[in-house]
Amino acid sequence: MAKGDWIPVRAAQGLHSRQAHADMPEGTYEREISKEGFFGPAAFLHHKRPPTGWTTFEGPLRPRAFDLARLNAADPSPWAAGVVLLNKAVEVRFWKLVEAMPGLARNADGDQILFVHQGEGDLFCDYGRLGYRPGDYLYLPRGTMWRLSPDSPTAILMIEATNTHFRLPERGLMGPHAQFDPAMLETPAMDAAFKAHQDQPGAVGVEIKKRGQVSTVTYGYNPLDAVGWHGDLAPVRLNVADIRPVSSHRYHLPPSVHSTFVSDRFVVCTFAPRPFETDPGALKVPFFHNNDDFDEVLFYHAGDFFSRDHIEAGMMTFHPSGFTHGPHPKALKNMLVQPKLATDEYAVMIDTRDPLDVGEAAAAVENPAYVDSWKAA
Ligand SMILES: [Fe+2]
Repeated sequence: MAKGDWIPVRAAQGLHSRQAHADMPEGTYEREISKEGFFGPAAFLHHKRPPTGWTTFEGPLRPRAFDLARLNAADPSPWAAGVVLLNKAVEVRFWKLVEAMPGLARNADGDQILFVHQGEGDLFCDYGRLGYRPGDYLYLPRGTMWRLSPDSPTAILMIEATNTHFRLPERGLMGPHAQFDPAMLETPAMDAAFKAHQDQPGAVGVEIKKRGQVSTVTYGYNPLDAVGWHGDLAPVRLNVADIRPVSSHRYHLPPSVHSTFVSDRFVVCTFAPRPFETDPGALKVPFFHNNDDFDEVLFYHAGDFFSRDHIEAGMMTFHPSGFTHGPHPKALKNMLVQPKLATDEYAVMIDTRDPLDVGEAAAAVENPAYVDSWKAA
């Protein structure tokens, strides 16, 4: 196939601003229609009313919200955790663990990220031990053998890059040390706790997930028995508190600027506390948009979720592409003037280029009234 150019348009009609997300015509609501997330051609329409002012919304397409915190603790195997969302490129599960995994897990289907929503404890893996605490991303290269040993009840959002890898996004003009310095990435240590773990007697089973099915390989000893390693591949830990978000006082940056990990067909972004825009003409809440090429998922980890009403930590919203979304009415009141200086939220966003299906676990804790949450109180 020949590679084409975008169809060239540079046009304007009626009342409009020249700069996106700033100096909008008074009393209007801006909506962005865009290609390839926030990286392709886009149009900015200025509406008389908030574009989320629907009175009814019927059929299979709709904004959805799931209260994952309400899910019960699962079997101490990650492969027993309920599937929340999935497609061919990504699988998202939510897993609650109260006691140490009796065996090891190994994901043969792809790289994996464990996002620690709650709980503290240890990750033991081929490479050594890493402690974990809330807000940690634990990156596990495909095939790593690992187990978690919680010190307190643990809740994990698991994100699999099916049949491929996680990488870091290009930093471009910001330079390689922006957002977080690569030196902030912690790797496992072969410390005294790891050595003590190696010496535990007894048989150990390794539950391997391959093509979605689990096989168990049992050893008469603990196979995490390496005495050393070297190389440029290893599990890493990064905490959301180590992320220094990019912001502009004069421009509401698109969510893609908060990308933390990228895969072939989806990105994982982190919303961390950041100052609100101060320029009088700059938008101070997320802009209304369609983002017609991506399905958008947000997991609310901690804080006060400034653009969403009735959303608490442990909930997940899912906005399939195909309709316009944007701030809830309460947040919209602060579109141009924010009473606070900064946001106070930590959230994990997963944007997928291909449509997602809802898993049984999420469907069981769905809030069916979410579609009505844009209606003014
Ligand atoms: Fe969005």
